[in-house]
Amino acid sequence: MPEKNAPLIETQKLCKSYFNEEIETPVLFDIELKIDAGEFVAIMGPSGSGKSTLMHILGFLDHHTSGKFLFHGEPTQKMDDDTLARIRATRVSFVFQAFNLLPRTSVLNNVMLPLLYHPIIRPEDRLEKAHKAIEMVGLSDRTSFLSSQLSGGQKQRVAIARALVTEPELIFADEPTGNLDSHSGIQVMEALQKLHADGHTIILVTHEQSTAEHAQRIIQLHDGRVVSDSTEFKRRIAAQEGKLHK
Ligand SMILES: Nc1ncnc2c1ncn2[C@@H]1O[C@H](COP(=O)(O)OP(=O)(O)OP(=O)(O)O)[C@@H](O)[C@H]1O
Ligand SMILES: [Mg+2]
Repeated sequence: MPEKNAPLIETQKLCKSYFNEEIETPVLFDIELKIDAGEFVAIMGPSGSGKSTLMHILGFLDHHTSGKFLFHGEPTQKMDDDTLARIRATRVSFVFQAFNLLPRTSVLNNVMLPLLYHPIIRPEDRLEKAHKAIEMVGLSDRTSFLSSQLSGGQKQRVAIARALVTEPELIFADEPTGNLDSHSGIQVMEALQKLHADGHTIILVTHEQSTAEHAQRIIQLHDGRVVSDSTEFKRRIAAQEGKLHK
């Protein structure tokens, strides 16, 4: 059973090595993290520092090698394949730098895709949910366009709509603004902020300080280790909100 009051995500001495033809490449070392539901966290660090690897483990796309990864207080090592498949389908979503949309497919059908295999959402609700998600990212006037007929920023907003259509509690975004000009990048970050305001937990990987500043907390990785974990932005935002409410 999930533990009450446990963080959404907790890692204890989490390590990851890749193995290719028996050659071990250690990539993550003793990662200790707690992330609560509702947080907006940015993971930063140089190329090769292990950001994507960590995100894939926390998003159930890859396995760690040693240490613990707890989800709602439950050790993920003990979860069977059915449980893992259900978590992947219903509780986490990804937005990637390269959008990963189907090009000759309409915006609507791209967004509906994760609903086709969804174990809970009923087929008769798919259309309404997809339209709502598209509206959320401000693309209702592009619903029937093919995704190849969109700008980069619009494509990424479709990818965000596809990520949110299943109403997952956790959304991962790996360099979501990496292929975008600054104006489109801001629109994409605004869409992620809106999701955060709606209660989703967002974990964002980025190289750019300006993008990371949309988050409330910044975790810095260096050579596979957490070298800093700042809640400074959270405090600053809380202070600002305090001022506004006075
Ligand atoms: N399948 C793999 N086999 C072996 N090593 C790998 C594999 N995938 C990644 N690595 C190594 O793991 C390290 C971390 O890679 P990762 O992709 O997590 O870095 P990153 O911080 O996301 O970098 P970037 O900012 O360039 O995306 C790199 O040194 C990389 O070479
Ligand atoms: Mg990466």
